[in-house]
Amino acid sequence: MKSFFAEKYKEHERRFNMIKKFVYGSPIDTGAVVMPVEQSQDPLQYLSEIEMNDKMIFNYAMENDDIVYGLGEANGGLNKRGAVYRSFCTDEPNQTEDKASFYGAHNFIVISGMINVGFFIDCASEVKFDIGYTASGMLNIEPSCPDFTIYVIEGKGAYDIVKQFRELIGRSYIAPLWAFGYQQSRWSYMNEDEIREVVKKHREAGIPLDAVYLDIDYMEDYKDFTVSEERFPDFPGFVNEMKEQGIRLVPIIDAGVKIEDGYEMYEEGRQYQLFCKKSDGTDFVAGVWPGKTHFPDFMNTGARMWFGSKYKSLIDSGIEGFWNDMNEPAMFYTEEGIAEAKEYVRSFDFDTNDPGKFFELKDKLMGLSNRQKDYESFYHNMDGRIVRHDQVHNLYGAYMTRAAADAFEQIAPDKRILLFSRASYIGSHRSGGIWTGDNQSWWSHLTMNIKMMPSLNMCGYIYSGADLGGFGCNCTRELLMRWLGFGIFTPLMRNHSAIGTRRQECYSLGNTEDFRSIISIRYSLIPYLYSEYMKACLNNDMLFKPLAFEYPSDNFARTVEDQLMVGESIMIAPIHEANAIGRYVYLPEDMLLVVFKSSSVRRYQIMKKGMHYITAAVNEVPLFIRRNKLLPLCRTSECTDKMDTSMFEIIAFTDDNIEYTMYEDDGISKNYDSPENYVSFEIKDVDGVLGAVSSKTIVKLSLF
Ligand code: GLC
Repeated sequence: MKSFFAEKYKEHERRFNMIKKFVYGSPIDTGAVVMPVEQSQDPLQYLSEIEMNDKMIFNYAMENDDIVYGLGEANGGLNKRGAVYRSFCTDEPNQTEDKASFYGAHNFIVISGMINVGFFIDCASEVKFDIGYTASGMLNIEPSCPDFTIYVIEGKGAYDIVKQFRELIGRSYIAPLWAFGYQQSRWSYMNEDEIREVVKKHREAGIPLDAVYLDIDYMEDYKDFTVSEERFPDFPGFVNEMKEQGIRLVPIIDAGVKIEDGYEMYEEGRQYQLFCKKSDGTDFVAGVWPGKTHFPDFMNTGARMWFGSKYKSLIDSGIEGFWNDMNEPAMFYTEEGIAEAKEYVRSFDFDTNDPGKFFELKDKLMGLSNRQKDYESFYHNMDGRIVRHDQVHNLYGAYMTRAAADAFEQIAPDKRILLFSRASYIGSHRSGGIWTGDNQSWWSHLTMNIKMMPSLNMCGYIYSGADLGGFGCNCTRELLMRWLGFGIFTPLMRNHSAIGTRRQECYSLGNTEDFRSIISIRYSLIPYLYSEYMKACLNNDMLFKPLAFEYPSDNFARTVEDQLMVGESIMIAPIHEANAIGRYVYLPEDMLLVVFKSSSVRRYQIMKKGMHYITAAVNEVPLFIRRNKLLPLCRTSECTDKMDTSMFEIIAFTDDNIEYTMYEDDGISKNYDSPENYVSFEIKDVDGVLGAVSSKTIVKLSLF
């Protein structure tokens, strides 16, 4: 035992010798890193540095076939080359190809080629990454301020570097098991009856369901931590009624606090100086859903504790999960912006014959939201240190997540509470998950969702997912089916859409049988997905991996972006194009194709390493089992509370003895490290025939 720990320790030491820390100026402690690393006395390695106008610019000359991974929630594909990315948490609902910033700021990249090296730019404000856009072979990193830390990580390959990085930033947030069930959301569920109807229609159609989301309309006038008495007259009773049907309600919490006399949050925040301030000492005002709001100063410990404590009333009502929103922070307008716009319009020459002037007018009005100027006009009190918001912009949402997570430790220390946020910065991955914000019902956003998952995992966000079916625009039946065909693999599997768009609950789009089948597949996969998810969290590993991480010497696998390894046994190749009857798939080794028509109706085909065209109808989901790996499936159920894991069907592709260790726990408490939490499945020779045995459960074998 002693030598085991000594070995582990040596391994740990070795890893941390491969991480070097370079400090510039006097950076704000972002909280991203948890492992202590000594500041390096060596000159910066790999990057050349240039000082320009008080700012530093770092360059790295890329080889032609270097791949650049990382950046978490960013635009583009798995390989980030060829674009500019601005790491600056941004409310960006119009996610077209040209957009440089989304909701999260995840400044970790890995260069993978002849040389493998990772860089983490730990900086609370904006950082620009020009990855071969200005000059195709040049990577250029530009922090917007002089105070930041760079971590340089060397490793055996990209995957090794990611794992070291994950150790550096600490264990990812662990969600409860019920949060792996299918979840239904839509901005516009107005009252109890509408929610009852949503649940009833899922149950009647036999479509499994675990949660329904409460968007802003559950509140009284969009005031945080209030519940409209008119629309939810007995909230705890209603929460309980839903729970009896296996349904959890998940309310939204927005960052902004409505300015309204007599409203407790507003009165307390003002009285105890817990809101962000302008330079004249008055509370900063921004318009969001409730109208004029103040922003809690999440950078301040007292404000975090205060805001966090408010979740208690909802938890006391039986709530077990939350989504934190609008925390970039998003601002629709400020009073200053409105005043400037009014002045501009007043003096605008509407008789001008210059079309350019009209575009200017349009831009002026469109530009009222999330203005850089407004982000530069308010301040945080970071426990005594006054900091202008833009200097710590990327931490705001992350610290809101932290406020909630820290409070949950006090309110319900032994229970896992579901929590995910829209804005994030590395470090918040320890407190909660994320969803990827306001996407659209576009095929390209399904593609983006597929390619983004491994990048999110690299940065520690394991409990994550996108709005399935797309948030904005009108979804088609085919798009939702295909999106669910991928969504059944993502930890957060939530169908969410915006008010005013076409209804996209599964029962709204005809032939519910198909939706029932597809979601049932998820429920039979949950034990495997949850197991692989838990192992990824507990071992600082990834659930979704690029093929290249498993097959590093396969040059073709390095180029594949829309097929992913999910845990240790399977590879997926989702269909993400309209009117497709199938797709090309690259197999880096021989694999078993399993096409699910429902959880129990499947077809199988052993396929050789190489390129293939596979077919899968809109109501079918293909996946591939790796050689000498097995996939355990349980019987499907209507919700996770009714999941039966006393019996499994094992699908295996082997002619040898193999083993799989499944992680299983009660899904709600925090006893992660108990040896009781492992179930082993073995395929072994019993009297000359391969059979399946398990340490705890009954198994049936389907062997190929
Ligand atoms: C934001 C969120 C979205 C939510 C809406 C209303 O746009 O991203 O998910 O439905 O606000 O609360």
